[in-house]
Amino acid sequence: MANTEQTYIMIKPDGVQRGLVGEIIKRFEQKGFTLRALELKMVDRALAEKHYEDLSSKPFFAGLVDYILSGPVVAMVWEGKGVVLTGRKIIGATNPAQSEPGTIRGDYAIDIGRNIIHGSDAVESAQKEIALWFPSGVAHYATALAPWIYE
Ligand code: PPS
Repeated sequence: MANTEQTYIMIKPDGVQRGLVGEIIKRFEQKGFTLRALELKMVDRALAEKHYEDLSSKPFFAGLVDYILSGPVVAMVWEGKGVVLTGRKIIGATNPAQSEPGTIRGDYAIDIGRNIIHGSDAVESAQKEIALWFPSGVAHYATALAPWIYE
């Protein structure tokens, strides 16, 4: 069913340290998406390198991995119709200098290397990232609000 699309969203260490966890969750929740999994955790290097493995040849790769290791992250799975694409819109452009006001990065970030949050860029990468960050799977429960969100 289309309403069960899922995405992997991660609040990076700067977002956690700056006290933006509640604000970020609020934006996804109030849009109507459903939180399916959430974990506050310190990431080990192997997991961070695996998550960003497609970027391993980039000059910023080592700095990006160190940034992710610099403090706890909040790893989450959000669910809902079109959540991958809409989630990216809520987050805003990768480089905060280009993120529109009203987006998370547009409102709260300045530098690309401290851009607060990650969101999967496609349904396929979302499935891969969810399996990587939540290897035991994601809980499924009835969404009581569904009749008030979807027609
Ligand atoms: S690229 O270069 O087009 O592949 O990169 P992009 O798809 O725009 O971004 C992929 C992730 O790399 C992060 N990134 C950076 N981190 C630190 N410094 C620099 N210069 C930099 N450029 C890109 C970017 O924030 C993306 O991270 P996630 O966590 O996926 O949003």
